[in-house]
Amino acid sequence: MDMPFKLKEATEGLVEDINLRDLRRISNKITEKYLERASSGGNHLTSEEEVKVYSVVRMPATYGAVSDALSYVRDIFGDDIDSVSDIGAGSGAASWACREIFAPSEIKCLEYEDQMIDIGRTLMSGDKELAGIASWKNYDLLSDEPVPGSDLVISSYVINELPADKRLSAVDKMWKAAGKIMVIIEPGTMTGFSVIRDIRAHILEAGGHMIAPCPHEGICRIGKDDWCHFACRVMRSKMHKLIKDAAVPYEDEKYSFIAFSKTPVTPCSCRILRHPEINKGFIKLNVCTSSSNEVITVTKKDKELFKQARKAKQGDTLDHSF
Ligand SMILES: C[S@@+](CC[C@H](N)C(=O)[O-])C[C@H]1O[C@@H](n2cnc3c(N)ncnc32)[C@H](O)[C@@H]1O
Repeated sequence: MDMPFKLKEATEGLVEDINLRDLRRISNKITEKYLERASSGGNHLTSEEEVKVYSVVRMPATYGAVSDALSYVRDIFGDDIDSVSDIGAGSGAASWACREIFAPSEIKCLEYEDQMIDIGRTLMSGDKELAGIASWKNYDLLSDEPVPGSDLVISSYVINELPADKRLSAVDKMWKAAGKIMVIIEPGTMTGFSVIRDIRAHILEAGGHMIAPCPHEGICRIGKDDWCHFACRVMRSKMHKLIKDAAVPYEDEKYSFIAFSKTPVTPCSCRILRHPEINKGFIKLNVCTSSSNEVITVTKKDKELFKQARKAKQGDTLDHSF
């Protein structure tokens, strides 16, 4: 997975005047801020330099995760999405991904921090078509102001940043504003998934219909000490490799997500929960189906299924009835 060339070029352009030592120092500071103040609502990035470095260091991974999740959503819901509200848009990674996957005619980027808005706007200005359909507005999801409505209401890596007791009411506001679907993406960690698990139960109770990732609308069967997450391989730019002092030219971004529709949809029959274990002549898959979570063994004898399993990755579905 790679960001569009115009976005890659624009993010790298943001930091060309910052020397490598400062880039690494700011990048480490951002990581510390997120680790120390996660879930307190106080880890906002407010300085221009922090936001610029955030854009270079984090946008490729958030763009990749959102694109991956949205492609799973499109597989099931289809692509009838003409408008998007991106809540906590940050520097715009999810909006860029929505444009690639759904080609909407309108994107509303709603964000709390002015510095994020400035950088998000600057990045989009290099893509006239995107800049022409996107609008940016200062917006606080925790305020009383309703979320501006769209076919798709999305947030990526935002809800876990809100104080725990405010998350579900914030999600209610988003759900109300969703004309067709709502998609929420969070880090693929125990904490990120626990946020998704709570949202799942809450929105199903409110009448939402499951699009993805789950093949069922019953109680989630993932154990309390486990978490449902997917992974997306993202290519690192030369600059990213340098800032992170990374040994390999890619990173594996882990994410959890949930997508609901206002109208009933037919969910997948099975979702692969872990990296497939490929052996000679057989493949072991940890799957979630409509009736159970189990490890299945697919052998060469199951011709069609074996062909699918050989190409599948964690997060993919299998076209097979279980
Ligand atoms: C980790 S960043 C994610 C940004 C972007 N969605 C992405 O995936 O790259 C979280 C964003 O949520 C924004 N945010 C946090 N609390 C918010 C609130 N109450 N209302 C609106 N935005 C908020 C932050 O300012 C920040 O830009």
